[in-house]
Amino acid sequence: MLQLSIIIPAYCEAENLKVLIPRVNQALTAASLDAEIIVVDDNSPDETIPVCEALSASYPLRLITRKHERGLSSAVLAGMDAAVGEFLLVMDADLSHPPEKIGELVSALHQRPTDFVIGSRYIEGGSTAQSRGWYRKWKSRVATWLSRPFTSARDPLAGFFALRRQSYQKARGILNPIGYKIGLELLVKCRCQNVVEIPVDFTDRVTGTSKFSLKEQLRFLKHLKRLFDFKYQNYAYFTQFALIGLTGVFVNLQMLALLSHWIISPLAVALAIWTSMSTNFLLNRNITFSYAKHQPVLKQYLSYCGSCLTGAVCNWLTTMVLSQTFPFFEQRILLAAFIGILVGMGFNFLLCRYLVFSRHKPEVEIAATKKELGHID
Ligand code: GDD
Ligand code: MN
Repeated sequence: MLQLSIIIPAYCEAENLKVLIPRVNQALTAASLDAEIIVVDDNSPDETIPVCEALSASYPLRLITRKHERGLSSAVLAGMDAAVGEFLLVMDADLSHPPEKIGELVSALHQRPTDFVIGSRYIEGGSTAQSRGWYRKWKSRVATWLSRPFTSARDPLAGFFALRRQSYQKARGILNPIGYKIGLELLVKCRCQNVVEIPVDFTDRVTGTSKFSLKEQLRFLKHLKRLFDFKYQNYAYFTQFALIGLTGVFVNLQMLALLSHWIISPLAVALAIWTSMSTNFLLNRNITFSYAKHQPVLKQYLSYCGSCLTGAVCNWLTTMVLSQTFPFFEQRILLAAFIGILVGMGFNFLLCRYLVFSRHKPEVEIAATKKELGHID
């Protein structure tokens, strides 16, 4: 089997590829590695395609041109699907990652139990581009810090990494290529436990422009939330559900304060409850259980209301049974009410999680993500 497949996502990188590919090839020869280089291009309007075609005459280069899709992460996955090497290594096309380090990354991956290797800026011996302004450096640090719940690696967002094709294949069905950080997605979803970092000097691109827009940064937050859900499952959903429940308390009280000036209190109380229930529904649909937001909204809303009612009945019953049956709680009605709230919320949560916002198959969600990212097919 071929030892290594190098995957290079590229969009409008003609000038950089002309320099990068010979350098990669030289690094492969120096490390005696038998490898293929796969450039995944999204039909760039510059010279990327003819440049790659010309380079493939002299180097072990394969060009994949996608006509109907855009995006760094999905490009990397397309390259990995096409790869045949035992190891998969990903690097940028813009000369940010030093190809001379490929040999070191690959030999680290040879040492079991290592299952993921990162070319790291943030360990001793590594560095980031000096030309980077403080704001970019700070953003990169914050993003890295936000990845802490998922990995202890110092630089999981480097974009220069390698793993076994076998690890990739095991997780293929659950990968959701949103945003720019496919390395983190693979690290988490392939359940790689033994990460080794190799120090690298990261250089900023000289030619071409970065495609990392504000939109991509927002997508990164969405990506983190999805990884949080994936890794912590019901703990993650319940935390979000409870926090949204808390916002509902504020909506309810604000609404009540506002309405009680205008209308009689029974109606004001009812309207305040209805408003907070509806804002909670919208937030839960779009955040906590966002995987189900492509399902029909009206049906979901009605069953959500039913679930809240069930929760309220459980709350009431628990409080009543406790305070009427146990003398301990008779003296402490607030404690009984608090337990009632917890039981009601627990019921409501379970109904929401498994009935109101029931989970689709991963393929359906991935198709929905693609649609969300505006893919053309
Ligand atoms: N095929 C394809 N399609 N490639 C893309 C696309 C796309 O839509 N968008 C970006 N790329 C390619 C670029 O051509 C480049 O080779 C690589 O992906 C990184 O994109 P840049 O535009 O250079 O982004 P960056 O420098 O802001 O981000 C990179 O550096 C980070 C470290 O600071 C990424 O590699 C991150 O993963 C990395 O963490
Ligand atoms: Mn770059």
